[in-house]
Amino acid sequence: MKRVITYGTYDLLHYGHIELLRRAREMGDYLIVALSTDEFNRLKNKKSYYDYNQRKMMLESVRYVDLVVPENNWEQKKTDIAKYEVDTFVMGHDWEGEFDFLKNQCEVIYINRTEGISTTKIKKELYGSDTK
Ligand code: CTP
Repeated sequence: MKRVITYGTYDLLHYGHIELLRRAREMGDYLIVALSTDEFNRLKNKKSYYDYNQRKMMLESVRYVDLVVPENNWEQKKTDIAKYEVDTFVMGHDWEGEFDFLKNQCEVIYINRTEGISTTKIKKELYGSDTK
């Protein structure tokens, strides 16, 4: 079984997220999403509209997602890859090159984002603010 992992906040779940999850899942047989916790988001100066449990529940309802685990810090990727026996690490191309150091552990793939949509854009257009 080929296992794929990806990381993110997935706040205000939108079709760009679904597309990413669909394409990530297509790269294997089992998709793990490491979801940023509220504490980790605070560390990144990001504040989600939905809290961790709400975001987790929604991701678990997506047919392409097999497992949601917490992302607590920047350093856990190496241990996650070993722990979950990951074959492929997938991220949006906004992270191009950033995780190449994982290439000695698994395949690292950056895929194109869906154009014209982001959580930041939704927030901006709904609230007239760009708070993350
Ligand atoms: N993503 C994507 N296409 C989009 C938006 C996001 O492929 N239009 C991908 C990102 O590359 C990432 C995952 O979805 O791999 C989760 O991204 P996240 O940062 O949670 O979503 P964004 O909409 O980019 O949120 P923000 O605007 O807060 O950065």
